[in-house]
Amino acid sequence: MSFGSKKLSGLLLIAASASAYTWPDPQLDELESLVYDQHGFNSRGILAGALDPCSRFNFGSTVNRSNVADWIRTAYHDMATHNVEDGTGGLDASIQFEQDRAENAGDGFFNSIRHLSLGITRYAGVADLIALGAKTAIEQCGGPKVPFRGGRVDATVPNNPGVPEPQQGLDSHIAAFARQGFTQTEMITLVACGHSFGGVQHSAFPDTVPLPDGVDDVSQTFDSTPFNFDNAIAFEYVHGTTNNPLIVGHNDTTNSDKRIFGSDGNATMASFAASPDLFKSTCGTLFARMLDTVPKDVQLTEVIEPLPVKPQTMLLTYMGDGTLKLSGQVRFWDTAESTSRSAKIVWADRAGKTDTSYTDVLSTNADMVASALNGGNFSVLWYNVGPIDKNFSVLEETAGISKFWFEIDEGDGSGVRTEDQNGVGFVLQDSVMLADSSCEITSSSGSSSNATIDIAVRADIQPSRVYIEYDLFNTAPSGGSYTTVNTTDAQPASGPSKRASSAYNIWTLQLSDSILTLSLPRTINIAVDAGDRKITTASFAPFSLLAGKQCK
Ligand code: HEM
Ligand SMILES: *[C@@H]1O[C@H](CO)[C@@H](O)[C@H](O)[C@H]1NC(C)=O
Ligand SMILES: *[C@@H]1O[C@H](CO)[C@@H](O)[C@H](O)[C@H]1NC(C)=O
Ligand SMILES: *[C@@H]1O[C@H](CO)[C@@H](O)[C@H](O)[C@H]1NC(C)=O
Ligand SMILES: *[C@@H]1O[C@H](CO)[C@@H](O)[C@H](O)[C@H]1NC(C)=O
Ligand SMILES: *[C@@H]1O[C@H](CO)[C@@H](O)[C@H](O)[C@H]1NC(C)=O
Ligand SMILES: *[C@@H]1O[C@H](CO)[C@@H](O)[C@H](O)[C@H]1NC(C)=O
Ligand SMILES: *[C@@H]1O[C@H](CO)[C@@H](O)[C@H](O)[C@H]1NC(C)=O
Repeated sequence: MSFGSKKLSGLLLIAASASAYTWPDPQLDELESLVYDQHGFNSRGILAGALDPCSRFNFGSTVNRSNVADWIRTAYHDMATHNVEDGTGGLDASIQFEQDRAENAGDGFFNSIRHLSLGITRYAGVADLIALGAKTAIEQCGGPKVPFRGGRVDATVPNNPGVPEPQQGLDSHIAAFARQGFTQTEMITLVACGHSFGGVQHSAFPDTVPLPDGVDDVSQTFDSTPFNFDNAIAFEYVHGTTNNPLIVGHNDTTNSDKRIFGSDGNATMASFAASPDLFKSTCGTLFARMLDTVPKDVQLTEVIEPLPVKPQTMLLTYMGDGTLKLSGQVRFWDTAESTSRSAKIVWADRAGKTDTSYTDVLSTNADMVASALNGGNFSVLWYNVGPIDKNFSVLEETAGISKFWFEIDEGDGSGVRTEDQNGVGFVLQDSVMLADSSCEITSSSGSSSNATIDIAVRADIQPSRVYIEYDLFNTAPSGGSYTTVNTTDAQPASGPSKRASSAYNIWTLQLSDSILTLSLPRTINIAVDAGDRKITTASFAPFSLLAGKQCK
């Protein structure tokens, strides 16, 4: 819904499209997946579902409360302790340690942090997930595109207080926003952008919102559309129809939106009331600045754009019969299913040469579709490497692989398109991989399993250490969540069942499924240290991959 009719589309800010990064990059691959794998096949599952529909609220029955509003308020309150002078504070998840402060009234922070923390890994901590939660909420619920950067660093202690409170005066609010790095006009704008969502609860602000008869709690909304971004917050204010409790509240002391919105004679709010497009584009810019306000030592990544063609879980398996199996999936962004398309994977061997036989089909089916609502409504199509009745390709062990790429023919006469990251190809190491002799032992009740993870290491590598790595999810007594990387070392293994060859040696370790149950996304990767090099596989879910294959 939009309010007002004057369009100022000339002012729409279109961000220059950044060039995509080169795969593989563990941190950027993970961030890209968190941002864009939101709905359907291979969805990461923790963000978009909680905002579908935008009125969803997972933590109680108070009408007009929502996850979307709590996530956006959480991001602002976490950022609002920033000090531009000394560079302290900012979006750093210090809110985890600041929830007992009066300036952080209500239970929305606790709920939001617990939910968003479920997505953390070694590559994206709580602060990145708070920022990503706000970005996803804003975009999925009618708001502007908010470019996303990763790399925030989680605080381990609280920051200085300083979140604005409604009973404070206008001068105090202007000063607080200046300390955060925003001008008075930007203050008016950012408050209006945020208060396009949600409202004020009686339980958190009893002086501001009275409790009607017959309910336990109530949220009095800032505008008539609390679950979606639009300019109703400005339109209703300017046209005198607002029910915003921080404007028409019976206690004028806490009418902070009234003081802020009127502080420039209504000029800023009048422009937003007149133009939904201007409001949307201006909020896009300010929301992005809010999320990117971080302590001064933190270096954010580039803006995470979707890779047009993105391999995932590309794994080699050492078969012990002279072959390697290549399995994995490839995501094609902004692509719909087409029966006339033929898609192939092509690879170069370890020496960098390709051969007419170094190619195989990619296959897909009706289950392998997804979509993304970040900055648009995109269709996404996944393919498996290899034919659908196998889902892998076979490589010669002696030839190996160094990189792969894709050749796509849409069948529309336009010819074959090569997707090879501008000639670089998709680089894949064949020095270390899972061995097919890996297996598991499941308890008779079926409730637990231990895996034997066999690892093939190429004989020309001199490893000082062969091991697996996985993320552990931890909760500190102070309430903060964080991950640590745990490792388990492998030992050299031999014997006929291990099927070593002249090209590969076998190492082995035992892994209990109990250590993976608390960590999301329950994956491991295999690693080798050799000299000053560390070589790793993609991360994969070992027990799904073994699919119950029992040790003999
Ligand atoms: C002077 C500055 C601000 C003051 C005094 C203020 C005050 C408030 C108050 C009193 C509430 C009610 C909270 C509750 O009952 O749980 C609230 C809610 C909210 N605020 Fe602000 N706010 C300010 C700025 C901002 C900014 C800059 C943003 C984001 C850009 C923001 C986003 C929100 C959101 C989304 C809610 C709704 C939460 C819900 O419905 O659960 N606020 N604000
Ligand atoms: C919820 O918000 C809408 C929009 O402001 C309002 O019309 C409705 O009365 C509210 N419901 C309750 C129970 O407060
Ligand atoms: C108005 O709100 C202020 C700040 O919360 C409070 O100190 C004051 O007692 C309230 N006044 C009335 C009449 O409720
Ligand atoms: C600003 O708008 C509000 C709400 O419509 C109105 O009450 C107030 O008088 C306006 N202020 C100015 C300076 O026009
Ligand atoms: C996204 O596009 C799909 C397919 O065109 C459509 O079914 C769906 O309703 C759209 N979703 C939104 C939120 O626009
Ligand atoms: C290959 O993958 C597709 C989609 O994930 C699945 O439907 C199919 O059953 C798989 N085939 C085999 C042989 O596992
Ligand atoms: C897995 O290993 C643990 C520790 O070595 C052992 O206690 C447990 O019984 C094993 N479970 C199964 C199913 O073998
Ligand atoms: C970390 O790994 C070690 C051995 O590699 C294991 O003994 C320990 O239980 C693991 N820690 C946790 C918390 O799982």
